Amino acid sequence: MSSPSQCRILITSALPYINGVKHLGNLAGSMLPADVYARFMRMKGEDVLYICATDEHGTPAELAAHEDGLSPADYCAKLYDIQKSQYDRLDLSFDFFGRSSCPQNHELTQLLAHHLEQNGLIEERASNQVYSIDDGRFLPDRYVEGECPHCGFERARGDQCDSCSRLLDPVDLKNPRSRISGSTNVEIRETSHLFLRQSQMQEKIRAWVEAATEWPPLARSIAFKWLDEGLQDRAITRDLSWGVPVAYQGKVRPGFENKVFYVWFDAPIAYIAATKQWSDAGKGDWEAWWRRDKGAEDVTYVEFMGKDNVAFHAVSFPVTLIGSGEPWKLVDKLKAMNWVNWYGSKFSTSEHRGIFLDDALEILPSDAWRWHLTANAPESSDFSFTLEGLQSSVNADLANVLGNFVNRVAKFCASRFDGKVPEGGDLTALETDCAKRVGELVAEIDRELEAMNFRKSAAAMRALWVAGNEYMQASEPWKAMKTDPVRAGVAVRFALNLARVSALVGAPVIPAATAKILQALGEIGVASWPDPSDGAFLDALPTGQAVAAPDILFRQIEDADVETWRVRFSAG
Ligand code: MF3
Ligand code: ZN
Repeated sequence: MSSPSQCRILITSALPYINGVKHLGNLAGSMLPADVYARFMRMKGEDVLYICATDEHGTPAELAAHEDGLSPADYCAKLYDIQKSQYDRLDLSFDFFGRSSCPQNHELTQLLAHHLEQNGLIEERASNQVYSIDDGRFLPDRYVEGECPHCGFERARGDQCDSCSRLLDPVDLKNPRSRISGSTNVEIRETSHLFLRQSQMQEKIRAWVEAATEWPPLARSIAFKWLDEGLQDRAITRDLSWGVPVAYQGKVRPGFENKVFYVWFDAPIAYIAATKQWSDAGKGDWEAWWRRDKGAEDVTYVEFMGKDNVAFHAVSFPVTLIGSGEPWKLVDKLKAMNWVNWYGSKFSTSEHRGIFLDDALEILPSDAWRWHLTANAPESSDFSFTLEGLQSSVNADLANVLGNFVNRVAKFCASRFDGKVPEGGDLTALETDCAKRVGELVAEIDRELEAMNFRKSAAAMRALWVAGNEYMQASEPWKAMKTDPVRAGVAVRFALNLARVSALVGAPVIPAATAKILQALGEIGVASWPDPSDGAFLDALPTGQAVAAPDILFRQIEDADVETWRVRFSAG
């Protein structure tokens, strides 16, 4: 239940495709920043609902199932469990992680399409497509291969030629063959599809994007690029069997018996459907988050995604929602991310290039990945991932700065102050200067997280941890201990409070380690965001509270580890 002063924030991250384990680029591009933002907003006391799901339809899912010797439904169920457990281990704090193949999504997808059709925004059109007789199916564009009609390249794909990079229509390829079976026994057949008339909505969508001044710049510029090129009508059905049937009110649309909605039509609708799954599980009221006539008017909706997803979220999905004529909640802030690259090329699922989440979790704890990928979030440009960079993030920032600081003060308190927070006393300029700097840094982290500038927020966190270390070095409680134990106590008390604030500001990014730190400081219960204007900001730990040295917080990455991983992941 939200209190009147709370904001209600709906957060979604792009739905990961079901076909296989995801890689670090997928994590860094949507789920991780969304999770950091969700955790931050919860600490600020806001009423947050963070929803994600697996994206389960489409040809790649069908083909992956086939390769695995399973039906699409069984394959998706299996991969859902695998993916979900990895996201749990990465401490992704979804309020609900659903599935785009759920009955709720079938229902909502059909309902929205029905409304669009009633509003004249769907049109049936016939077109010619390549049909593979041996595969017994129409071939999706990129599953047709043949000779490029422009440059003669032998292995051009139906959608684009990799040699001259011209966009192609698969029916124009010479000597076409199926990439699924390799068969050349193909012919051109006529087939009908439903088209979403996006061109009709050009002006409405432009006005809406123009008013969306709260979108960060990358998303806005991509959205305007699409609008400037002019919105094209898009086919929203496919000749496939795995997906949402083209049916309204339980009746298949005549002529669409062997077709389903296109995966990109039903996937974004699954944001709503997954919220309904959450609702149907008795956890809340989905309509209060999605229907403006049912209370969603005051929700702020924030979406996270890789840059290749912007067109679908800035144009196609809004066309679906606005075009339905119903009062659906639309995105308020759209955060788009660039790519994470792997030694000069892209991470690739099909070529298994890069580090995948199962391997990632095997070699390092979740926090190491979360920190490295947040501190280097691919925001203003792509980020080139290297193992050396990873080593330096973990060793320099986490182990040597944050870990070292917390260990030093907690150990000193444990050995010299009987493991109890010492009494306070007069502060010197050392403390007041440090408090001023730390207060400014907390405000900066707050601002940058609010603005979804993850790299900058991490840089300010690091600066705050450095300030803690510097305070420890300058105040030298181990020296004061010999001459003025009261002064030493004041310094230790101040440093313990600095450690507490260090953990609190880092909690959205490295939740596991910061929970250990707070526990070592004797802090239990809900961690809320520190407020520099509060008098207890750096004096929150009660005198006498038990403090213990935490277990090892961050293990150093050795050069030998880097070498082992270089071989294991064929890096460099
Ligand atoms: N599965 C898509 C991708 O990984 C993202 C789908 S996002 C949604 O690129 F909006 F469709 F849900
Ligand atoms: Zn070509």
